Amino acid sequence: MSRKVTIIGAGSVGSTITYTMAVNGLASEIVMIDVNTEKALGEAMDIRQGTPFCSPIQIYAGTYEDAKDSDVVVITSGMPRKAGQSRIDLAQTNVDVIREIAPEIVKHAPNAMYILVSNPVDVLTYTFCKVSGLPENRIIGSGTILDTARLRSRLAEYLSISQKSIHAYVMGEHGDSSFVPWSTARVGSVEILDDKGGFNYTGRIKAKLNPEEIEQYIRTSGGKIIERKGATFYAIAISVCHIVDCLFGSSNRVMTVSSMLHGEYGIDDVCLSIPFIFGPQGICGNVLPAMTEQELEKLQHSADVLKNVIKQVNI
Ligand code: 2OP
Repeated sequence: MSRKVTIIGAGSVGSTITYTMAVNGLASEIVMIDVNTEKALGEAMDIRQGTPFCSPIQIYAGTYEDAKDSDVVVITSGMPRKAGQSRIDLAQTNVDVIREIAPEIVKHAPNAMYILVSNPVDVLTYTFCKVSGLPENRIIGSGTILDTARLRSRLAEYLSISQKSIHAYVMGEHGDSSFVPWSTARVGSVEILDDKGGFNYTGRIKAKLNPEEIEQYIRTSGGKIIERKGATFYAIAISVCHIVDCLFGSSNRVMTVSSMLHGEYGIDDVCLSIPFIFGPQGICGNVLPAMTEQELEKLQHSADVLKNVIKQVNI
């Protein structure tokens, strides 16, 4: 079966997504597009030369015309975050990038599923919803899928248990106002925290777990990695490949990705992450866990932060 993916932006994130897709046999054809055509050519060439050891795949650098018949388009273009910068600091610059790219790519790949990855991802997902003219169910922002992965890997370390047995989410903005609705977090089928904020877990706990500290760790992880190595790209690439795998799969899954809200938890007209259901047809629903008053306030705060940015930028 043909699975054509276009990656826009051949920086570290776009190239690592291409590489990860090739290694995991997720696509049969990948087109890499970048304003820096030499960079796209170089990255495509480098990855392509390893593909004799992968499932059959064609990888090449191209133009928007080459995106024709793409099943999935992944947008990673834009200014990356520098040390000390918040994702929101990039808003207007990257909104302009999305506004420029949208008509070009949609003209050539009108039937594709679109995944937005560049930051601030929620604002850019919203922008793409507004300017692309595509149905919202075909537009997915990577949102807090990465934060949720960070949360689960951290909890798995503390609780000495597989991440697959941890059912916990990070919701809201992929940014400083994200939060963990702890009342919905489970290990197996049991709430992770008891009503005094202690751990409801009889397994081996490696270290005393402080929910506040864990949330802070998740919120600051991206920044810390950028301070240390200048960029983050491996974990986000794996997360995006997970979304692509789901779009190419045969059943729906629940994941925290960013999509337009229409009254969920009383919130409207903003893109942020809650547990959405999506699969081959794109976003097709959501599962809304009951949350405490305080958690609902945090979600509302996150929506307000994003709406405030949206108000200030020129979409
Ligand atoms: C991250 O959280 C920078 O948004 C990117 O890794």
